[in-house]
Amino acid sequence: MRVVHTKSEVRAAVAAARAEGKTIGFVPTMGALHAGHMSLVEAAVAGSDFVVVSIFVNPMQFGPGEDLEKYPRTLDEDAAQCEAAGVALVFAPSVSEMYADGACTTVHVAGLTEGLCGQFRPGHFDGVTTVVCKLFNIVAPDRAWFGEKDYQQLVVIRRMARDLDLPVEVIGGPTVREADGLALSSRNQYLSATERAAAPALQAALQEGARAAREGATGAEVERTVAEALAREPMLRPQYIRAVHPETLQRLLGESGPMVIAAAAHLGETRLIDNIKVEG
Ligand code: PAJ
Repeated sequence: MRVVHTKSEVRAAVAAARAEGKTIGFVPTMGALHAGHMSLVEAAVAGSDFVVVSIFVNPMQFGPGEDLEKYPRTLDEDAAQCEAAGVALVFAPSVSEMYADGACTTVHVAGLTEGLCGQFRPGHFDGVTTVVCKLFNIVAPDRAWFGEKDYQQLVVIRRMARDLDLPVEVIGGPTVREADGLALSSRNQYLSATERAAAPALQAALQEGARAAREGATGAEVERTVAEALAREPMLRPQYIRAVHPETLQRLLGESGPMVIAAAAHLGETRLIDNIKVEG
């Protein structure tokens, strides 16, 4: 496995793999790799011949006052995990390698980015879609893997690829969790012991909502169920709780049926997100 820092090295390595007839798989990340990331890497290794993992803490997707500076950076450990998993190439660019001076072009996916996290993190998804579009152009993968943990991100990127005719298949992977239900996240490291003990209440509340949804509750009723369950853990301060259509991400309110129930909550200084999918 090689770790490279420039776009030209990525292009050359991918071109050589392609010339050998290999298919290219890609997993974009911001590093601090955990078992959630590695489940996507394993799927990519199983589903393609030459796997590229990018590790880039993308400043463009962090808002003012967010955790850009304190975001964990652990390249050596990340590279070791990638090597053990069978990754061919790690791409770890600097900010100046990724963003040319005076860069002024962005990718904006309208509508889908307005609700859920988009409402509370203005500009965040433009940062995500711009960097992922650039990474797709640099790596030119056949298939790319994204986690359902960031459900809105997955839907937004899938739509971007479709709308811009990017020749990549976007594949979603299931959320990997701790034994107590907490979704793995690089940000879980920020939690104190008491916060960590309270954190599983987020997924537990979403599961209560999912139970209600399966029994025919409407979106509005599901949201209320989740809110009541979350209120039993006062350390968790909910930012939003939404029952939405799995593809359009529109709030369901009076409708029941297939839905994704998504929530964000603050726990101390840390912002947690999670979701649960209810099939029809
Ligand atoms: P990051 O938070 O590092 O996540 C990289 C990928 O891992 C994303 O597709 C995310 O959904 C997935 N992931 C994170 N936690 C997971 C879990 N517990 N189970 C399954 N998958 C999980 O998401 C980003 O980086 C960035 O926005 C990025 C797409 C790299 C663009 O900068």
